[in-house]
Amino acid sequence: MINNFVSVDKRNYDISKMQDVKLLMSPTDIKFLIYMLKTKKPKKMLEIGVCNGGSSYYLLKESDPKAVLHSVDIEKDCPHDPTKPTGYTVEENLDKSLWEKRWFRHFGMDVIDCIEEIGGGIDFVLIDTVHTMPGEFLSYLAIIPYLKQGAIVVLHDVFDNYHEIMKDKMLTMWTADSFCTGLLMSAVPSPKKYMPDDQPVPNIGAFEQTGKDLDYVIDVLRALYVRWKYIPDFMLHRYLVMIRKKYGQKAADLFEQCYAMQFEIKDGKYLDKE
Ligand SMILES: C[S@@+](CC[C@H](N)C(=O)[O-])C[C@H]1O[C@@H](n2cnc3c(N)ncnc32)[C@H](O)[C@@H]1O
Repeated sequence: MINNFVSVDKRNYDISKMQDVKLLMSPTDIKFLIYMLKTKKPKKMLEIGVCNGGSSYYLLKESDPKAVLHSVDIEKDCPHDPTKPTGYTVEENLDKSLWEKRWFRHFGMDVIDCIEEIGGGIDFVLIDTVHTMPGEFLSYLAIIPYLKQGAIVVLHDVFDNYHEIMKDKMLTMWTADSFCTGLLMSAVPSPKKYMPDDQPVPNIGAFEQTGKDLDYVIDVLRALYVRWKYIPDFMLHRYLVMIRKKYGQKAADLFEQCYAMQFEIKDGKYLDKE
């Protein structure tokens, strides 16, 4: 055990047949996801970041057949194969009885557009989107009020920023800026965090949702002082309004200050105002 990170024993989960679907997660990461599903037995799952649907496939296949899954992706067509719809792996590989009545697709939108419709009582989440700041921080801030106390939030690619440095040719799209999920994993003030124990540096992790008020989100918001890779202009105002409504004016002020700083950076330097 390191700090508050708890090792998990996943030796009982057979991943030998995983080659039947195209995966964007490594088999060991999928194994960890299955371990969390089997241990926590969720009833209402939310997935943010779907792409071809490899993770949706496992969320549906390995959970209680009565549990529902809401999958959200900003793209309607699969970014890895635009000739197919987002999440196509599920329809192509999974028995219809396992998804037809329990899989709700919210494609072509951000989670802020559909979280109210999805509603509360969410007890299991997988967040796996852009990995660069502010990416997953925004998604997480949008969903906190809808999570059950003790809900499990799984974050993928918490170690992605090293892939470029390791010169992994398969993962050249990721860069040293891909530290968003890793930072979120550390910033969340939950005393219960989980990581797999079979990788030198795990690339997947999870934490339990233990709060939703201003005190809880303040550490999360503060992490947004870190320099952002991109500024989602078209979303910022909506996120500001949501943060004010859900967490109060102090949280909104902090958020506004964090993003105002991003506009003050030019040629790689923060423009100090005298
Ligand atoms: C790494 S892939 C997801 C892989 C999937 N979880 C799996 O393991 O099979 C990232 C996906 O996140 C989506 N995405 C990017 N920004 C998003 C956002 N703000 N909200 C929802 N999805 C987003 C992209 O369109 C892409 O399909």
